[in-house]
Amino acid sequence: MSLLASVADTVLDRTIAPGYSRLGLAARRRLAGWPADPPRIDGRIVAITGPTSGIGAAAARDLAALGARVVLLARSPERAGATRRSIVDAVPGATVDVVECDVSSLASVREAAAALREAGPLDALLHNAGVMPPAREETDEGLEVAFATNVAGPFLLTALLADHLAADVPGRILTMSSGGMYGQALDVADLQHERRPYKPAAVYARDKRAQVVLNELWAARLRPTGVVCHALHPGWADTPGVADALPGFRKATRPILRSPEEGADTLVWLAAADEPTRSTGRFWHDRRPRPTHLLPRTREAPEDRAQLWRGVAAAAGVDVPVPGAA
Ligand SMILES: NC(=O)c1ccc[n+]([C@@H]2O[C@H](COP(=O)([O-])OP(=O)(O)OC[C@H]3O[C@@H](n4cnc5c(N)ncnc54)[C@H](OP(=O)(O)O)[C@@H]3O)[C@@H](O)[C@H]2O)c1
Repeated sequence: MSLLASVADTVLDRTIAPGYSRLGLAARRRLAGWPADPPRIDGRIVAITGPTSGIGAAAARDLAALGARVVLLARSPERAGATRRSIVDAVPGATVDVVECDVSSLASVREAAAALREAGPLDALLHNAGVMPPAREETDEGLEVAFATNVAGPFLLTALLADHLAADVPGRILTMSSGGMYGQALDVADLQHERRPYKPAAVYARDKRAQVVLNELWAARLRPTGVVCHALHPGWADTPGVADALPGFRKATRPILRSPEEGADTLVWLAAADEPTRSTGRFWHDRRPRPTHLLPRTREAPEDRAQLWRGVAAAAGVDVPVPGAA
């Protein structure tokens, strides 16, 4: 990328509203050095959570169009069936499987992981499901719903499948975070959002911050295996999730929101292109690595990171040592 293009790209990143909108993606696509579209990935097995709506539905279809065998990890068999049919209609000959998985349920995640292990090695695991509940609620297993869906369930799924990812291609674990995490620091003393007044956007952003830190820690843990881990954010995309959780934001920004396909662009690219396999533990937006902090107050100490890992592992009911700990 030329110096001028690099400066323009960074300005788009830091100015938030233009950069996160469809205008930012359109501008970046015209800059010199925009990374090439991914190649075909015929036969690679890609499992994705949250494929029944918005960004996940677009990503699942676009990955099938690239030749991937897509596994839809969905909590609703009806919605999964409808998504499967719409992919096969759009991509004749596509191979699309469904595995039931409620990411907020540890029992369901364990069943889904067992089902996935019966298929061949996974080439990519995409943690895309995400929620911003309007009020604090707990699952039947006693976990706060946002934390269970955004953090604990994905952590358990990764823990159960990490050794089932292909080492040669190599396997990839991708986590869809949010630019909202830039505004929040970890709160390792309150992972399940009990102590402060429950503010949905702040809760969501703290979960999304936790995802980014856990991505870095999983990357460190899995580096010797060859599996790479990346997190990303999609910018602002017009999806059912945004319409439901942020109607005022959607009304104000609708003309500049990205389509779900545009929101899925970097997820698909990270799952299929070669460049992302040359590094691990990064945070991406619009096909480029991005900083994980824009504000000094959001930086966490190494002990906070270790405490996050221990707290999430305990909540997820899985024993995985803190990466790097003696
Ligand atoms: N859209 C944006 O502008 C934006 C911005 C930043 C980050 N993101 C992130 O991008 C991802 C996709 O967002 P979206 O806007 O496409 O949202 P969406 O339209 O609400 O789709 C969310 C998906 O997650 C699934 N899901 C929710 N809870 C689940 C659970 N417990 N178990 C299994 N699946 C579950 C939903 O399944 P059901 O069909 O069963 O409900 C749906 O398929 C999320 O992680 C979100 O945080 C989006």
